[in-house]
Amino acid sequence: MTTVLAIETSCDETAVAIVKNREVCSSVVSSQISVHQQYGGVVPEVASRQHVETINFCVEQALQDAQVEWEAIDGIAATAAPGLVGALLVGLTTAKTLAIVHQKPFVGIHHLEGHIYASYLSDPALQPPFLCLLVSGGHTSLIYVKDCGVYETLGETRDDAAGEAFDKVARLLNLGYPGGPVMDRLAQEGNPQAYPLPEGNVGLPGGGYHPYDSSFSGLKTAVLRLVQKLQQQGGLLPVKDIAASFQESVSRSLTKRAIACAIDYGLETIVIGGGVAANSGLRSHLAAAAATRNLRVLFPDLKFCTDNAAMIGCAAAEHLNRGHTSRLTLGVQSRLAI
Ligand code: KG4
Ligand code: ZN
Repeated sequence: MTTVLAIETSCDETAVAIVKNREVCSSVVSSQISVHQQYGGVVPEVASRQHVETINFCVEQALQDAQVEWEAIDGIAATAAPGLVGALLVGLTTAKTLAIVHQKPFVGIHHLEGHIYASYLSDPALQPPFLCLLVSGGHTSLIYVKDCGVYETLGETRDDAAGEAFDKVARLLNLGYPGGPVMDRLAQEGNPQAYPLPEGNVGLPGGGYHPYDSSFSGLKTAVLRLVQKLQQQGGLLPVKDIAASFQESVSRSLTKRAIACAIDYGLETIVIGGGVAANSGLRSHLAAAAATRNLRVLFPDLKFCTDNAAMIGCAAAEHLNRGHTSRLTLGVQSRLAI
């Protein structure tokens, strides 16, 4: 059993967790959403400062919740990339400092590897190979998980991430930030067939479209045009129907690609991660499509889908079990392929 203290500060959540292999002993997540809401999105400099102010309290809280002393910790981990540079630096520097002070091994973790490992927290018996559909505010990826540290990205967004598209359309509809949850709520009361919208296909030079890549900027523009047209016609904007039609289009698009990818690569399990994994439309589309193809879909607990440190700790424990550690000279990177 390897017990890890893990830190995640890649964006706007200050998170610290204690994880024993695939078991969560404590998971503290301090969200900055209310601070960023007034700006309509995450302000990087504000995020860094908030992390600095909060991180030590989160470390103390995580140790206290888990009722663990430093002697019982086998290693310290932090997200090293990708993410906001200043935000990442706070978590990584804290982890390195704790590793030096308490003389523990240190390991830096890729944020997307963390999102993949979230599924092991909900199903500790899960084994690779499987396909991970990772849909967050920053990423929309289809990742073939072959083993710990062995990943192949088979599909990606060419422009906006799925969550980013939800947030941008929500802003267009004056629904505030973050837009995903409120869009989801309104969509459930709207007609998903009200307005036909593009499904985010990426055209190929020889015709047809890329089977696994997606593009959501065209969809966002289509919603903008629709809103402008409806505004010209006057009357109240049918926000629920617009949200439902948009959600339908994103859900169909992601489901189609994930199912095709799993079948083409002979993978029987699809796991889903990232904030958009909470979306009711995506969940029902994916569950229905997978059932007709005899595929298993694993929906991890919502608290492990959105950014948290338990997923980072779970990945770190597996790396430490395999003897992998990082040098204390490891730096952060805003962009880095998995
Ligand atoms: O994974 P996450 O917490 O942070 C990133 O790593 O980006 O994802 C946040 C994103 C936001 O864009 C948010 O609007 C979206 O996930 N989101 C949703 C829902 N809940 C959160 N999008 C659609 N439907 C939801 N229910
Ligand atoms: Zn994330």
